[in-house]
Amino acid sequence: MVALGSIDEVRRAVTSCTACALCEGRTNAVPGRGDARARIMLVGEAPGRREDGLGEPFVGAAGQILDAALAGAGLSRDAVYITNTVKCRPPRNRVPTDAEREACSGYLAAEMALVAPRIVCIMGNTAYRSLLGGGGITRERGKTVRRGGVDYFLTVHPAAAIYNRALEGVLGEDMRALARIAAG
Ligand code: URA
Repeated sequence: MVALGSIDEVRRAVTSCTACALCEGRTNAVPGRGDARARIMLVGEAPGRREDGLGEPFVGAAGQILDAALAGAGLSRDAVYITNTVKCRPPRNRVPTDAEREACSGYLAAEMALVAPRIVCIMGNTAYRSLLGGGGITRERGKTVRRGGVDYFLTVHPAAAIYNRALEGVLGEDMRALARIAAG
């Protein structure tokens, strides 16, 4: 991958990317959005149908849950940087394959290097696996992990709360903890 020197360059590279077969089924690739100098970067899994239609991350049902959790922690969407592990929608919203995560990993690495947030919030197992090689995030959530000079905070994926409403409270609690850590 060529060196990506700004968030705008990452955005352009993502929107024209053909590195894996997901490009064939997309309406729009979905680069990250938000404050390119944010103290908090949130990383999800991959765009869903609504994100694919609009080209923006977390604008569907999971996004509404995320927005509510952020608001409860005194955070606005514009004050953070929100992105995904994989930038194109997998068919029927299946979990991205290892090869798809690998093909997209340079974009996430570039976003992390350019935004250089105080903390990266991993939302769900796909991001956990990609960034830290982890799994079983429901047990690990609420923890901060330092790796390679970067602080990561672990939480559940907002979409998990669509089916298990108790996780909305968990996500809200985690966002409040995240806001406190980021302010420190
Ligand atoms: N789920 C994700 O992981 N990302 C989105 O952008 C939307 C839903």
